[in-house]
Amino acid sequence: MKRILVTGGAGYIGTHTCVELIKKGYEVVAVDNYVNSSEESIKRVEKITGKGVKIYNADVRNKSALDKIFTEQKIDWVIHFAGLKAVGESCAKPIEYYDNNLNGTLTLLQSMREHGCKKIVFSSSATVYGDPEELPLTEASKTGGTTNPYGTSKYFQEIMLSDVYKSDKEWTVVLLRYFNPVGAHESGLIGEDPKGIPNNLTPYIAKVAIGELKEIGVFGNDYPTPDGTGVRDYIHVTDLAKGHVAAIEKIEKSGIYTYNLGTGKGYSVLDVIKAFEKACGRKLAYVIKPRRAGDIAACYADAGKAKRELGWEAQLGIDDMCQSLWNWQSKNPGGYNK
Ligand code: UD1
Repeated sequence: MKRILVTGGAGYIGTHTCVELIKKGYEVVAVDNYVNSSEESIKRVEKITGKGVKIYNADVRNKSALDKIFTEQKIDWVIHFAGLKAVGESCAKPIEYYDNNLNGTLTLLQSMREHGCKKIVFSSSATVYGDPEELPLTEASKTGGTTNPYGTSKYFQEIMLSDVYKSDKEWTVVLLRYFNPVGAHESGLIGEDPKGIPNNLTPYIAKVAIGELKEIGVFGNDYPTPDGTGVRDYIHVTDLAKGHVAAIEKIEKSGIYTYNLGTGKGYSVLDVIKAFEKACGRKLAYVIKPRRAGDIAACYADAGKAKRELGWEAQLGIDDMCQSLWNWQSKNPGGYNK
């Protein structure tokens, strides 16, 4: 069976992808520096799957650590999640973001090339489309015009990976552009564990629901959307994880492949609050606040290409997303290790 190296394997999307890979019979090797994750999350993956996961504690910018992994393990594919991902923080710390995200990817590519592993799935984002000129977004929609260093780093990494393929046609490069990943594994054992006060909408709502935060701030109700609040394409993290497995299973020929991973449906901030109220069984307090700098009105995918070419389609809806997040949050009020 194929062996997959998952960078950032202890993180939110990484753990869910490890679970889906193991369920399909793949051998999983993970690497993580735990800056935004914990060792406990991989133990939970082992609990869910009943299988051991070999994890290396290393930073992907550490070439000799990566070389050691590729020497010890015969790796067929790399799924590359490792990186920093907070939009606001990236504006305050652009040097750290470009260092981690760009140097991490470059070091990984160097090590892969040296060890003859030329298949990579990259964790990209719908943020590469910037402020959309058209909706829904297709893979052919214009990219660039990103609004923060995190987004720009994703855009640059896509370009770097495309150039690598152009220079050596033996590479297989898969760029997966995620829309808004939310929710948690149905077991309630793994989920998103943000440090401090969450920046993203659904973890924030979950903290209000358990009583840790007072009220939700809705960032703007004067957007040109049906209820005036921002519209996004939320996708269940389990569906997203399965998209990675589909890419590895379906893509046989070398090449560069780009797919949107979304549901194709947009929900407003108020829609999400309502769905979460249903999941947790109580009313949640919210106040309308000014728009958040850098936010766009609406963003949702045309997810048809992934369906046609990978046979992958999101199965879970907004209620599943909120219920699973509530299940994780209520079983683990302080996240992992608490
Ligand atoms: C951002 C990034 C995206 C990244 C994602 C997860 C951009 C443009 N977007 O998405 O690339 O993958 O984070 O890290 O770089 N909202 C509130 N109150 C809150 C929080 C959010 O009303 O407390 C609203 C926002 O205005 C937005 C929606 O909820 O309309 C979703 O926001 P969020 O969860 O932060 O994700 P994005 O900004 O869409």
